[in-house]
Amino acid sequence: MKTYYLIISMELASYTVHSHLLLSTTYCIDFFGENMVHDGYQDVVNIDISSVVIEQMKKKYHDRPQLKYTKMDVRNMSDFESGSFDAVIDKGTLDSIMCGQNSQEHAAKMLGEVNRILNDKGVYIMITYGDPSYRLNLLKDLQFWTVKLHVIDRWERSSKKTWDLTEPLPLQDDSTSIINLLGPKPDVHYIYVCIKDNDSARVELKVEINEQNYS
Ligand SMILES: C[S@@+](CC[C@H](N)C(=O)[O-])C[C@H]1O[C@@H](n2cnc3c(N)ncnc32)[C@H](O)[C@@H]1O
Repeated sequence: MKTYYLIISMELASYTVHSHLLLSTTYCIDFFGENMVHDGYQDVVNIDISSVVIEQMKKKYHDRPQLKYTKMDVRNMSDFESGSFDAVIDKGTLDSIMCGQNSQEHAAKMLGEVNRILNDKGVYIMITYGDPSYRLNLLKDLQFWTVKLHVIDRWERSSKKTWDLTEPLPLQDDSTSIINLLGPKPDVHYIYVCIKDNDSARVELKVEINEQNYS
């Protein structure tokens, strides 16, 4: 667990130097928040749509004022100001949204909100088991950010019991380069590191276009 956190921490260190983070969502990645506080992060906001999860986490970390827990829908984070976060880390939230109905519309809303609350140099890190064929197109189509893809072995299944992060994999226009490299069903976690493109005019335009496309 600690190794995994260190990998993520290194990612954060290389992509952002600030300390206002949003963890989306909290459940089962609470150890991220805990270890980040240990490493000196002062403001780690955790959200989840489930009040049960939020109450559990609040109780567990009542002695860590740096960890804030708020029940919130990631598709509507209007309580947060635009540009107020340096990084958003997501393990399983987009996946969860994509399993539901109207997944494209909801995923676009979520990613639009993530983009809005990130500052100009913000980074969105998404950790998923999901195959890149759909995730990659979704992230790239929105054109909010430059996307890099890393993979690590699924620790729980790996005989090595180490989590080695790859260099960013070569990304072509579709996911075939990844399939060629890793095979059709590799036992890995995919880590998408999405670095915000700070051309805000284009971003605003894209949000409008995407809202029309998905409505
Ligand atoms: C698959 S679980 C992932 C949990 C955890 N992050 C992990 O890695 O095991 C998905 C989580 O997303 C939360 N979730 C689903 N839809 C959400 C939404 N619209 N806004 C915020 N959280 C949501 C669920 O309550 C659940 O805790």
